[in-house]
Amino acid sequence: MREGAAFEVQERDAVYRAIATRRDVRRGFLDEPLPDALIHRLLSAAHSAPSVGLMQPSRFILVRDQGIRRAVQAAFLQANERAMATYAGERREQYVSLKLEGILEAPQNLCVVSDLESERGHQLGRHTMPETVIYSTVCAIQNLWLAARAEGVGVGWVSILDPPRLAEILHIPANIVPVAYLCLGYVDHFGTESELERYGWESRIPLDQVISYDTYSGEHKADRVESAKA
Ligand SMILES: Cc1cc2nc3c(=O)[nH]c(=O)nc-3n(C[C@H](O)[C@H](O)[C@H](O)COP(=O)(O)O)c2cc1C
Repeated sequence: MREGAAFEVQERDAVYRAIATRRDVRRGFLDEPLPDALIHRLLSAAHSAPSVGLMQPSRFILVRDQGIRRAVQAAFLQANERAMATYAGERREQYVSLKLEGILEAPQNLCVVSDLESERGHQLGRHTMPETVIYSTVCAIQNLWLAARAEGVGVGWVSILDPPRLAEILHIPANIVPVAYLCLGYVDHFGTESELERYGWESRIPLDQVISYDTYSGEHKADRVESAKA
């Protein structure tokens, strides 16, 4: 009976493979537009995500216009200057050397926004945790990210953007919150590790260090101190 609900082994492996090999991609996009049918599949994956109270607050703005993309990239450069100024010494040098967006190189940009004021879902789950609206949109983004990996499409998330400036460029009204600005395009390979790991910015925490049993374990704090010192 139990086996009836599970995927076949190969299908299951494919799901875990998409999860394990998904990367944030900022470079190496092929100069090839994404077919409309593929974009539709990706958006459909996003739109199938769980959402609080079945609110489905996520809205998708497909951006291809070069002028708009140049404006977003200029906004990134401004925000990135401000971010750079928060680092000093070796960290700063390292930060400056990182590539943190592919806005103009990627053939497709996508801004995912959340409608905080939608009445859909009749507030179920939101009385106690209003932030679940944004969480729901993040679930949609992750669905899209994994589906894109299976399609051979790289996705890069750009959060180094001033939200009001992004809203201005994309004519996003005040009740709609920009959650992610994504750069999408075919790539011919995915890195085996995160770029931030490869360039020594940060390392992944082993799973056993983030699990505790029955109550929260303060041991996790040691890791926070460690990374603050670095
Ligand atoms: C909410 C969020 C915002 C992010 N913003 C940026 C960003 O502005 N620029 C960037 O290069 N990567 C960004 N990333 C990608 C992360 O750096 C990346 O996911 C992390 O280093 C792990 O690498 P991986 O996704 O390749 O496994 C973001 C990821 C998330 C989830």
